[in-house]
Amino acid sequence: MQAVHEDIDRVLFTEEDLRARVKDMGRQITADHEGESLLVVSVLRGAAIFMADLVREIDLPLEMDYMAISSYGNGVKSSGIVRILKDLTSSVEGRHVLIAEDILDSGLTLKYLIRNLESRNPASIEVATLLRKKTKAQADIDCRYVGFECPDEFIVGYGMDYAERYRNLPYIGVLKPEVYERAQ
Ligand code: PRP
Repeated sequence: MQAVHEDIDRVLFTEEDLRARVKDMGRQITADHEGESLLVVSVLRGAAIFMADLVREIDLPLEMDYMAISSYGNGVKSSGIVRILKDLTSSVEGRHVLIAEDILDSGLTLKYLIRNLESRNPASIEVATLLRKKTKAQADIDCRYVGFECPDEFIVGYGMDYAERYRNLPYIGVLKPEVYERAQ
């Protein structure tokens, strides 16, 4: 993956950092939900890697399910109005739902998702986000579990992409500006 690594300016979270933090999060979720079973939900595609690692650190009975959403018009980030391309397979009613997100940026994706899932009468909804970006304009989202706070930079890896690349990096890094400036 040498060509891919060369596009990274610096590493923010190493593979070891991620493994250790995800393990902690899983332990905490397990302790907080003793005696319960969970429906763990993520939104494709970025969160799939985090969710896959997180569920293996949760020692509870659980189900995994996925949604795919697409933005109307100006995009999820600017409008927050989204369309469901693939809905959950499982019923949410009466379930303890844990949303696994890779990153909370504007918060519009989570705001939409929480509102949508709340309307299906779950027993509870909680959010575990691996990263929370430090941005000024972020929707007020109640995240029970946050892996790391991260700077407001263009980050990729561990599920996060630029133009669908870099998702397979085992670490999270800042993309060199010339990579996306080149494309403009
Ligand atoms: C990313 C990420 C979150 C969302 C966060 O998804 O996976 O779901 O953006 O941004 P927000 O807080 O500003 O809403 P993206 O739309 O890039 O799609 P992807 O998961 O396919 O990469």
